[in-house]
Amino acid sequence: MSDHRSSALVAGGGGFIGGHLAARLLREGYRVRVVDCKPVDEWFQVHPDAENVVADLSLLDAARAAVDGMDEVYNLAADMGGIGFIEGNKTRCMLSVLINTHLLMASRDAGVDRFFFSSSACVYAAAHQVAPDLEPLREEMAYPAMPEDGYGWEKLFDERMCRHFAEDFGLRTRVARFHNIYGPHGTWDGGREKAPAAICRKVAAAVINNDDKIEIWGDGEQSRSFTYIDDCVEGIRRIMRSDCDQPLNLGSDELVTINELVDLVQEIASSSLKRRYNLSAAQGVRGRNSDNTLIREQLGWAPSVSLREGMSETYSWIYKQVGYASHRFLP
Ligand code: NAD
Ligand code: GDD
Repeated sequence: MSDHRSSALVAGGGGFIGGHLAARLLREGYRVRVVDCKPVDEWFQVHPDAENVVADLSLLDAARAAVDGMDEVYNLAADMGGIGFIEGNKTRCMLSVLINTHLLMASRDAGVDRFFFSSSACVYAAAHQVAPDLEPLREEMAYPAMPEDGYGWEKLFDERMCRHFAEDFGLRTRVARFHNIYGPHGTWDGGREKAPAAICRKVAAAVINNDDKIEIWGDGEQSRSFTYIDDCVEGIRRIMRSDCDQPLNLGSDELVTINELVDLVQEIASSSLKRRYNLSAAQGVRGRNSDNTLIREQLGWAPSVSLREGMSETYSWIYKQVGYASHRFLP
């Protein structure tokens, strides 16, 4: 019997955002194929109702097999991480260009209906991010270009590649610039974790081990906005369904300093800890926030989950992971 459901490839679905997106597409009734290069037992979430495939999507043949028979392609696959990883692994970050390029070529040749690329706030020009309280980033501020070295250039190049595949071949491409996404089932240790997960892990470990100090990278006065995973997945689906073929910010506009983020996590954990500031650790830009005017205009929607709400969920999940890792039974 033939299957009449819409079909979607989630490339990089063994990772954080792809794992959540695959769950959402399955709930919506899609036939879902998840492809990731990691062995399945290392995937952050495994959905038994999906077709789960291990393959290296930087290879053209693997990309062709992955998109075969798919109506929609979501590219969430990349070799990336938080600022500590991207500053120290510029070549690896840039080589992700092979994944997107081959997925675009394969999608064009297979007649895929819509293609989604996950770009980043790291495409924005450095000059707009030199202080913690500068104006939020509007989409046009990516040009004249001076993005994050390595990772940001790869994302900006891939955004343009999507545009040209749309112009030259009629492939319907959609692009979101994610602003620091966090939530349960994300990377929380090992070197690729971003600030929200890293701070939760450090506070949870201090609570569990009765320590009184945690290390913070930088002086804690650098600023960011952090976007909860549910808003990210909702935004991806809305952007994919929309007629907007320009890159859109997909980010919260609730700006905080890293010290304020730490205050919040300590409050959630009911703990009081001293901070040791490591000024030689990776810090990235001094300030970054999302301007959501364009996404509101285009979609009539923008992320809305508060940092307190999202971080409460995230802290509970990470607290349990830290407990399992240290073989402690936790309440
Ligand atoms: P993640 O690291 O959790 O997931 C990425 C997945 O891609 C991993 O499971 C990895 O194994 C897989 N992958 C890497 N190379 C591959 C290859 N050659 N073939 C197949 N799979 C491969 O990252 P994430 O947080 O889920 O991010 C998803 C996407 O969103 C990435 O493109 C990332 O650059 C982008 N992004 C994320 C954030 C964020 O804050 N999480 C911010 C901006 C942009
Ligand atoms: N990772 C991490 N770990 N960051 C810390 C820590 C820590 O323990 N303590 C303080 N920070 C500070 C960093 O120094 C940085 O100034 C800030 O928190 C944010 O760090 P990250 O969350 O690692 O990254 P980012 O916001 O600079 O960049 C990230 O977001 C982009 C999109 O907005 C990266 O993950 C990029 O890959 C992503 O595209």
